[in-house]
Amino acid sequence: MSKIKKTFKALGNILKEPSLLNLILNDREVKKKEFFQKYPHLKTLPQVNFFDLEGGFNETIDLCFLDGGSIPTDLALLKTLAKNKNTYFEIGTWRGESVWNVAKVIKDCTTFNLSKEEINAFGLDKKYAELHGIISKQNPEILHLEGNSKTFDFGSLNKKYDLIFIDGDHSYEMVKNDTEKVFKHLTHENSVVVWHDYAYSPEKIRYEVFMGILDGLPKNLHQNLYHAAHSMCAVFTKGNFPTQAFESLKEPEALFEVNLKYRNIK
Ligand SMILES: C[S@@+](CC[C@H](N)C(=O)[O-])C[C@H]1O[C@@H](n2cnc3c(N)ncnc32)[C@H](O)[C@@H]1O
Repeated sequence: MSKIKKTFKALGNILKEPSLLNLILNDREVKKKEFFQKYPHLKTLPQVNFFDLEGGFNETIDLCFLDGGSIPTDLALLKTLAKNKNTYFEIGTWRGESVWNVAKVIKDCTTFNLSKEEINAFGLDKKYAELHGIISKQNPEILHLEGNSKTFDFGSLNKKYDLIFIDGDHSYEMVKNDTEKVFKHLTHENSVVVWHDYAYSPEKIRYEVFMGILDGLPKNLHQNLYHAAHSMCAVFTKGNFPTQAFESLKEPEALFEVNLKYRNIK
């Protein structure tokens, strides 16, 4: 098909279904170009291999291998960062896998999510709303809070957390919103903050999320941001770490050994 024919066909489709415009506006390459215009000096974050810091990394995680959750190394990263910490807060519960895993290390864990009513009001599948917290609610020690991070008053919690996981709505606006609120209300001098979906996969940056993180964080704190190698997460942490440059098409330097064990939870 010629370019002119394609253009008319595309315009016809957009006229019939205007929401198709979002596909163009949210296209990965479009977001990448927008990012490079705003941050031409900063193509990716420096990488830290948190799995290689203390030597002999060995972690067990629980996950259900279904849609919308984290990858095994994201959960292993959270458990690793949770060591020697006492309080955990996360935005974005979904089935509750991330908080369930962290709760094996930290006793005081809070997870925050839209209520079922609000999820239903977005017109999403009722079953999706019902499944929220299906894993984490099996642990009565985990505190489940409901609200919309856009409007919730995080200051009302009157508490600072050692480890925070931002994994709610991944649009630019909401990542910026959640980042601003977390750093305003929930962090102390030594808090560690982790963002999920900084990358689509360990080798592909998700630029709208990256821009939300940078724009939500005071500029003087950008120097404490890293990409956790082998994961989809960005990490804010103070301290000196050996870093490496991000590479896609990276030559592997190590192997993770994975033992899968199936456990019925019903
Ligand atoms: C990717 S899932 C979280 C996955 C979970 N952290 C895990 O790793 O198992 C994102 C969650 O954020 C919730 N969410 C989306 N927008 C939100 C908002 N504005 N306020 C609070 N929660 C929100 C969704 O309902 C969904 O449960």
